[in-house]
Amino acid sequence: MERTFLMIKPDGVQRGLIGELVTRFEKKGLKLVAAKFMKVSEELAERHYGEHKGKPFYDRLVAFITSGPVFAMVWEGDNVIALTRAMIGKTDAVEAAPGTIRSDFAVHTNFNLIHGSDSPENAAREISIFFSEQELVEYEHTL
Ligand code: CMP
Repeated sequence: MERTFLMIKPDGVQRGLIGELVTRFEKKGLKLVAAKFMKVSEELAERHYGEHKGKPFYDRLVAFITSGPVFAMVWEGDNVIALTRAMIGKTDAVEAAPGTIRSDFAVHTNFNLIHGSDSPENAAREISIFFSEQELVEYEHTL
């Protein structure tokens, strides 16, 4: 069973979309393993977005993700990484397919509401920097 790290960014929190977005993943039938409402420190942002260091949008990205609270989550399911990325849609809202989160709610690449891990390696890395082992809840998900 695969796990992924999803994070509703400060724009999603400010716009009151936490419930709407969590509902989509719940209705899909995915299993919630952990969730945390928190502010991201500069240090955490740099660890999370390390692979983008040096890119033209990096400083803006770190400034944005540290600007207000986020809702960090771990979800589990078969092919959960590909599934949730498909539900989120392309990074650029203009290219996001209709029905995806970014098509339905976002207009800008920098304010694109939610982050989703793009590979099993990044999912494991991102989960481990945001959550301790104890915060990953074990329970039966009967669906
Ligand atoms: P996210 O999935 O959080 O991962 C990297 C983020 O960088 C991405 O979402 C966007 O919010 C942001 N970003 C800004 N400009 C670009 C760009 N040109 N290409 C990719 N990501 C970008």
